[in-house]
Amino acid sequence: MAVQLAPSILSADFARLADEAGAVAGEADWLHIDVMDNHFVPNLTIGLPVVESLIKHTSLPLDCHLMIEHPDRWATVYAEAGAGNVTVHAEAAQAPVRLLREIRSAGARAGLGINPATPVEPYADLLPEIDMLLLMTVEPGFGGQPFLDLVLPKLRRARELLARHGGAVWLQVDGGVSAATIERCAEAGADVFVAGSAVYHAGDPAAAVRGLRAQAERATAGAAWAAGPGQPG
Ligand code: DX5
Ligand code: ZN
Repeated sequence: MAVQLAPSILSADFARLADEAGAVAGEADWLHIDVMDNHFVPNLTIGLPVVESLIKHTSLPLDCHLMIEHPDRWATVYAEAGAGNVTVHAEAAQAPVRLLREIRSAGARAGLGINPATPVEPYADLLPEIDMLLLMTVEPGFGGQPFLDLVLPKLRRARELLARHGGAVWLQVDGGVSAATIERCAEAGADVFVAGSAVYHAGDPAAAVRGLRAQAERATAGAAWAAGPGQPG
């Protein structure tokens, strides 16, 4: 049950992306890339050409979070470009099963993202098709928003669904994750943590990742969901 940290470059200096990736390369597990199209979310960030360039300049695997309409048309291209994970939103995908299979066939891990107001239960049958479930803990679109505690009960239910499923699906949280909130996420069942402003607005991004990881590991060690089978709790 390893804790993983994925700093989001949305809060980094876009004119110095390779350096900003390098600043966390020794500490992070993934580099989280927020692709936004100004349609699915009211913000416009970066697309495939930047991802293709960044892949050549970082040792970290890229976790591409597509907040775009028509992911059925575009997501597989990110996998073909070499992204380690491609997450598409349930609210945007037309044919999620086909799309998730295409992402995996193109060599990437397949992620399914759901917004704060989207229930997780309707997607329980899709768990065999995914490698990671992303629960947004803010409305997607911008960094630096306050964490939505109302997602925590859904996080617990998602962890229970994953336990029943029995596979090795990771559970990611994204939005407002910081020193003040990461322990709540870990206790509720998250094991992959995206953090944008908490990392890149810190004086020392690598130290920020180290600190967040230590907090998440401590909270996970005390969490009932992480106890092995047959153990109390
Ligand atoms: C928001 C993005 C997040 C964003 C998180 O829609 O998906 O990845 O970078 O930023 P913070 O950690 O500042 O909330
Ligand atoms: Zn994101």
